[in-house]
Amino acid sequence: MDLDKDELHHIIQRAIALKNSPMLHNDSLQHKTLAMVFEKSSTRTRVAFEVAMTQLGGNSIFLASADTQLGRGEPVEDTARVLSRMVDFITIRTFEHSKLELFAKHSLVPVINALSDDYHPCQLLADMQTYFENRGDIQGKSVTWVGDGHNMCQSYMNAAQQFDFQLTIACPEGFDPEPALLAARSAHVRIVRDPHEAVRDADLVTTDVWASMGQEEERKKRLQIFADYQVDEEMMALAKPDALFFHCLPAHRGEEVSAAVLDAPNSVVWEEAENRLHTKKALLEFLCQK
Ligand code: CP
Ligand code: NVA
Repeated sequence: MDLDKDELHHIIQRAIALKNSPMLHNDSLQHKTLAMVFEKSSTRTRVAFEVAMTQLGGNSIFLASADTQLGRGEPVEDTARVLSRMVDFITIRTFEHSKLELFAKHSLVPVINALSDDYHPCQLLADMQTYFENRGDIQGKSVTWVGDGHNMCQSYMNAAQQFDFQLTIACPEGFDPEPALLAARSAHVRIVRDPHEAVRDADLVTTDVWASMGQEEERKKRLQIFADYQVDEEMMALAKPDALFFHCLPAHRGEEVSAAVLDAPNSVVWEEAENRLHTKKALLEFLCQK
């Protein structure tokens, strides 16, 4: 939400250009350093950031917070002040979104959300690129979110406003997105409890794990509550015939998505994962030019 619509479209188009013309792998980030503070696990986000910096001629430093003084109680504000005097951008994956905002407030350089409990915006850049590449502009399209109203869902809500598509959310009661965010996005977002009803005529269907990082203890309970929310072939058959399926990954086949849907031809999850790299490159270049 810190980037306007034109800036977001510019990043998507640049990501597509970088993907299609590997010769654009220039040295635009030469001598630049990205610090990566991670308090949660990651495969895609970490590798995408590190490879992006390498391909653009810069450097990255991975900081598992437990190995830093942050993990021993040095205040977030002080860590931000120190790191931002040495590096050109910082990315953070953490639990409380407020920690990320506090970090950004005290940083002298751009701070990128690599996932918090509330949002996962970098994933949405990759998702938007994937839609644009496969089907063209997402403006006016019908997107259905099936599952937990957590970080990925809330980033879809923000994307619905920024990219002007209609988002239908099918989540069990008690797992809704933040009411204030729902109210703020009401022109683009609605909740439909029945997932089969929600996917009807969708251009894109997407979901995420039922128990996110930090919710491991609730996993057993969540498996029961979300049991009717699996995206399977029967559910996908209600969407438009050419509807795409997205998943930010990692996926749990047999839980939020059936193996048949995840591995079907209209599931573009591997492309979506690859696009994490291209959108990271475009985002880092953009922040560098600002
Ligand atoms: N989709 C995503 O963010 O994956 P990682 O947790 O592997 O980074
Ligand atoms: N909602 C998931 C996304 C993982 C990329 C989580 O927060 O664990």
